[in-house]
Amino acid sequence: MHKELSVDEWRDVVRRKFIENDVVAISLTGGEPLLRPEVVEAIVEEMKERYVTVVTNGTLPLIDFGVGYFISIDGTESVHDAIRGAGVYQKVKRNVEEHPEAKVTINMTINNLNWKCVKKVVDEWYSLARAITFQFHTPFSYDDRLWLPYGNLRNSVIDRLLKIKEGYPDFVANTSKQLNLFRNGRWASNCPTWFFVNLDSRGNKTARCYIQRRREWGKTHV
Ligand SMILES: C[S@@+](CC[C@H](N)C(=O)[O-])C[C@H]1O[C@@H](n2cnc3c(N)ncnc32)[C@H](O)[C@@H]1O
Repeated sequence: MHKELSVDEWRDVVRRKFIENDVVAISLTGGEPLLRPEVVEAIVEEMKERYVTVVTNGTLPLIDFGVGYFISIDGTESVHDAIRGAGVYQKVKRNVEEHPEAKVTINMTINNLNWKCVKKVVDEWYSLARAITFQFHTPFSYDDRLWLPYGNLRNSVIDRLLKIKEGYPDFVANTSKQLNLFRNGRWASNCPTWFFVNLDSRGNKTARCYIQRRREWGKTHV
């Protein structure tokens, strides 16, 4: 395994890759960004007034860095714990309740195991979070059991999401247009690569974001 970058090396990456390129907002996705709070703090400092969000599994303290938190919830308690481990759901919920000052958005990645419980997840987090965003699981391999193939079932899940959005217009942050794009393999194809700077864990620029690079898998999984 390679050595992780130090705090000062991350500061240097932010200056060279983000500030010099006039990047106005960044999202720290990890791995798990909160395993290195000192790095998050330094990056926020370097970014100054620019917008920083942190995508986290929500099990570590939601330190008040002034960031927006995206917390991954993969389903109701039993489903989330089946995917992420026993006791994780309650741990995350307690963490959010203990940090009411944290600006929390729930991020639910929809997959073959959790599509049935989307509405329950919305109901459970409505009073605890500011918003919820949905994305669909991108397959990691040809036999990825979490992949929800294109077709009737996936389309009916998207219809369900659109209906939920009608009931919770201020809570579901995806636009209807964005939800409809998940119906087929083209949802990441128009992503303007010139608009984004994607960095790996070494701070090196990657040609495309991970999801975009994996899009081809999805195409072969209809
Ligand atoms: C890779 S995780 C890293 C951040 C953090 N450790 C966590 O667990 O949320 C970032 C987000 O990507 C989502 N994700 C993970 N695997 C995915 C996949 N195969 N396709 C689409 N999204 C995925 C997760 O649900 C999570 O919301």
